[in-house]
Amino acid sequence: MTISSVVRNISENIEYKSVAIRPFDSKKGRMLSWVYRYERKEVTQNYTLEESVRLLDKMIGTQFSQADMYCVGKDYFLKTDGKEKLTVKESMAEREVTGRHDKVKTRMVEASAAFLYLLEVTSADGHVRKDKKDKFIQINKFLEFFSAAVQSLSGPEISVLDMGSGKGYLTFAIYDFLQKKIGAGARVTGVEFRPDMVALCNSLAEKAGFSKLNFVQGTIEGYDFAKSDVVIALHACDTATDEALYKGIRAGARVIMVSPCCHKQVRRAMHPSGLAAAFSRHGIIEERTAEMLTDLIRAAILEIYGYQTQIFEFVNSEHTPKNLMITAIKKRDSVAALPGSWRPVEELKTFYGLEYHHLERMLAETF
Ligand SMILES: C[S@@+](CC[C@H](N)C(=O)[O-])C[C@H]1O[C@@H](n2cnc3c(N)ncnc32)[C@H](O)[C@@H]1O
Repeated sequence: MTISSVVRNISENIEYKSVAIRPFDSKKGRMLSWVYRYERKEVTQNYTLEESVRLLDKMIGTQFSQADMYCVGKDYFLKTDGKEKLTVKESMAEREVTGRHDKVKTRMVEASAAFLYLLEVTSADGHVRKDKKDKFIQINKFLEFFSAAVQSLSGPEISVLDMGSGKGYLTFAIYDFLQKKIGAGARVTGVEFRPDMVALCNSLAEKAGFSKLNFVQGTIEGYDFAKSDVVIALHACDTATDEALYKGIRAGARVIMVSPCCHKQVRRAMHPSGLAAAFSRHGIIEERTAEMLTDLIRAAILEIYGYQTQIFEFVNSEHTPKNLMITAIKKRDSVAALPGSWRPVEELKTFYGLEYHHLERMLAETF
């Protein structure tokens, strides 16, 4: 039984990039919810099974080159060149089916995954621990967007750097996902300041048999690497998110995904006057303005370096108040800034009386 699937766009003529399809039960019986993902919005349509089959039949090979199907027991990854060639890769998937057949949970990582028990996210009976429920949902949601973002990568190998990996929940989940998707070509490294976390994660990676997952002790700023296809950071504190973005930009990473944590640097460096002085009248407004400005400038800088960016809430705020995500997909080969493209950043800085933005300062010093 297919419990969820994602199809990816290849046609220039349609605006949505991918469609995520999930079953649900309505008064009319079993239906499928289709979420069309555009660059800056999502549109949901519900269809019957028969309508969905007809639509899929028309789309695959013409509008879409790829369909990932997440099923009970197995996952299927279908690829077509739009002509004759159609390949289907399979991988085993231990998914949980709870209650009646229509209560299948549709998650990227299921609670039965062995690595979650090693990380103490789940208990011996395969249930998510109460205090780990939010983290479990966060990594599942992060993975959903990660899965969509890495579709733009071609080739048999994908390397990922997780900056500020902490206890490695997301790092393990990314490795597990990639290994199922591309096998031995998956390589994931966590960079973490705390030696105890690094030692623990390396020993758990060995226990899990995750041979190309490793953790390196050190700072993000001090971590030297020539190349990584993907750079991610989940809740790396304050300017550590900027360090991760900086490293990703410099390495020419094809995909960068960060979910920022606290935002202190911009608030301290912001001295609005004139019209913008109103933003400083109330502490909470100043705090939120500084947060928004921090991330707005991050996205603007990524665009200067040839990335197409999106900012959105990747998970409901009940699971973490730090639920913003910035995704960046590289659209230009050069790692240099587009000449004369800093104006939007300069204008924002001038309006808010911002002395400097950490990411901008680092880039200005080295590029
Ligand atoms: C809030 S935790 C998030 C951990 C993990 N990404 C997660 O979401 O589960 C932030 C982690 O980043 C690490 N960290 C913060 N700044 C860092 C830096 N500059 N270099 C390396 N690690 C850093 C901290 O030690 C901490 O483990």
